[in-house]
Amino acid sequence: MTTIPCQRDAFDLPRHVTYLNCAYMSPISRTAMAAGEVAIRGKTRPFETTAADFFSLPDRGRELFAQIVGADKEGVAVVPAASYGMAAAALNLPVERGQEIIVLKDQFPSNIYPWRRLAADRGAKVHMLNLPDDGANWTDALLSAITSNTAIVATPHCHWTNGALIDLDQVGAACRASDAALVLDLTQSAGVFPTDLSRIQPDFAVAATYKFLMGPYGLGFLWVHPKWRDGRPVEENWGSRKGAEDFARLVDYQDDYAPGAKRFDMGERSQFQIMPVAIAGMEQLLEWGISSIQETLTARTLQIAARAKQLGFHSLDVGERAGHYLGLTRDGGLPKNLVQRLADQNVYVSVRGPSVRITPHLYNDDVDVDRFVDALTKEVSRANA
Ligand SMILES: Cc1ncc(COP(=O)(O)O)c(C=O)c1O
Repeated sequence: MTTIPCQRDAFDLPRHVTYLNCAYMSPISRTAMAAGEVAIRGKTRPFETTAADFFSLPDRGRELFAQIVGADKEGVAVVPAASYGMAAAALNLPVERGQEIIVLKDQFPSNIYPWRRLAADRGAKVHMLNLPDDGANWTDALLSAITSNTAIVATPHCHWTNGALIDLDQVGAACRASDAALVLDLTQSAGVFPTDLSRIQPDFAVAATYKFLMGPYGLGFLWVHPKWRDGRPVEENWGSRKGAEDFARLVDYQDDYAPGAKRFDMGERSQFQIMPVAIAGMEQLLEWGISSIQETLTARTLQIAARAKQLGFHSLDVGERAGHYLGLTRDGGLPKNLVQRLADQNVYVSVRGPSVRITPHLYNDDVDVDRFVDALTKEVSRANA
């Protein structure tokens, strides 16, 4: 594990822009852009797309995602969005009347709405956990909330508002002990926070590719535990059926699905124009190394947190939060219109709940930190005036 030098040259970010908003949407690298250009151009020459490409392209995506999250590639399905993965989970997990589905307060809506629907359909209840004021963390809150009446725990690896970390090894073990299913939204952690699904053993785990997987919008991957791989897919498409490779025999309709988790693939899962972008992004991440990325970004957010502290901003400590994710809060609240005012100075961050959300990546350097701190200092002075 090593710290990675700044990779700004691998991206096409203008020098006058300080982009600290990877949790909103990552830029794709120059390499991924080149792969995308070739892919779009490929559609002008459809005669060059072979039947084998329909399968090899998504299979390469599965393989890379599996490597990134520590899972088997046979268990990976191609999906268009995190919400689609959640829909597959909700369609298959048993929930009895009166049971509970546990979620975290202020969790991303794609990991809330399917559970509200499922609970309403089955006469179950969504239990939205809040944090007590005694300094307990989400892991403690989850561990004390999971009981034999818990049907499903649906959680991220780190909270999207401030990066608060959930210990998924402990939560996974607690779910198994209570016979509860575990569903993970890894959209804010896959590709940047080391994750080993073979240890955590969730039932379903999904990530959209357009954030820390440094891929395109409109694509994601879903890992499905072996025990659900004979489950019911959200849709019935030709590509996920057994023998789909033989195009001449597609109308010899098949009741059997392709093996593994392929039955959960979305229609048109080959995604000729955007899958190559996702592949290039994930190859680059694996080349850098997920642990090294995390270590590098941890140092970066610590540097920012230390400077922001002098301006009266607080944050969780590393360990309580994921290293790549910094939520800054301030007594008395944030300066008004902070996001827009910073954007006017070419500094890009988000506000989520009470936190300014700072999510750098390897393209950021000390110049960006100085520019962010200068802009923030100006806004704090203006607010205090
Ligand atoms: C935690 C989390 N999950 C999922 C998503 C995206 O969800 P979907 O792919 O359903 O649009 C986001 C987007 O901000 C997110 O922050």
